[in-house]
Amino acid sequence: MPVLRIRSSQGVYPVTLGANLLSSIGKHRLMASRPCFLITTPRVFGLHGEALLRSFPRSKRPVVLLVPEGEQHKRLRIIERLASELAELGAHRDALLLALGGGVIGDMTGFLAAIYQRGVDCIQLPTTLLAQVDASIGGKTGVNLPEGKNLVGSFHPPIAVFADTTTLATLSDREFRAGLFECIKSGIIRDPALFRLLESQREKILARDPKVLERVVSATVRVKAKIVERDEHESGERMLLNFGHTIGHALESALHYKTLLHGEAVAWGMLAALNLSVLTKHLSQADAGRASSVIRAYGPLPKFSLAADEVLAASGRDKKHSAAASRYILATKIGDAKVVSNMPQSEVRQAIRTLLQEAKR
Ligand code: GLY
Repeated sequence: MPVLRIRSSQGVYPVTLGANLLSSIGKHRLMASRPCFLITTPRVFGLHGEALLRSFPRSKRPVVLLVPEGEQHKRLRIIERLASELAELGAHRDALLLALGGGVIGDMTGFLAAIYQRGVDCIQLPTTLLAQVDASIGGKTGVNLPEGKNLVGSFHPPIAVFADTTTLATLSDREFRAGLFECIKSGIIRDPALFRLLESQREKILARDPKVLERVVSATVRVKAKIVERDEHESGERMLLNFGHTIGHALESALHYKTLLHGEAVAWGMLAALNLSVLTKHLSQADAGRASSVIRAYGPLPKFSLAADEVLAASGRDKKHSAAASRYILATKIGDAKVVSNMPQSEVRQAIRTLLQEAKR
């Protein structure tokens, strides 16, 4: 059972990856003699909740707080509701919040933990591939505003992450593929061996072959762990993890978080970022072609119709003149990327137009 330890400003936290972890989680020493609160969705509770609750001694079972499923519910009003529920239940500073679910649950529970009584502990129990390889690690927590994704949040690392790989069997094909796009991203920006694995083992990966999948998951987690250890608060290197996310987040927001799963939006965003990398001569056509082919091979990506101006407006980069507004993450070869400032709007527009042409229904 691979365990990775991640250093953060608030201490070291273990990330444990393995099969059937949830069914023994309640016996872990981290849960002992603390009031635990399980935050999850009705669907995820239906799939994994009973096994998890049964792993606790009867008198110590966590109280369950349910939230509706979907990125459109990652909002401050849900955080306020959950905080009130915790207060009504008498939760104090020793409360331990358990986030059981995908990235939305992880981000919201982490944010609630960051601000409830000025900070309580949180353990991430990610059940989607995307949450296991990305959202549960790194300590960024938060919610969306109508103006954009993750605009309110905080850095609040979990005290532990337990990624039960058995839960991946319950994912729909679409959800599973969406998570793989974050793995492809990690290969493109930092790990050519992971990229080659994704390129050469597509059939086995899509068939969820446990051995190959464990290699993909642990390599992706390692990429993220190393980067966030070196740059926890995203002042430099950590920005590379946003490859495909600038335009990806804009698509999600412009489509009101309804048409694309996060990973799918990142996949479209990566296609645009690869195009932008070629347009600005940072990346060879050959490497861009290879990377784009792998992204498309893990599709199909849902189509949609938007105008370039809508995407630019949703990215918040149509009218702002700060340095950050013209900053993009570009690939320089398979396995490397860089942050590029002062990106000309004309090239960004061109890359978005090409993307929208391909995405058109
Ligand atoms: N929680 C996701 C991250 O820190 O990147």
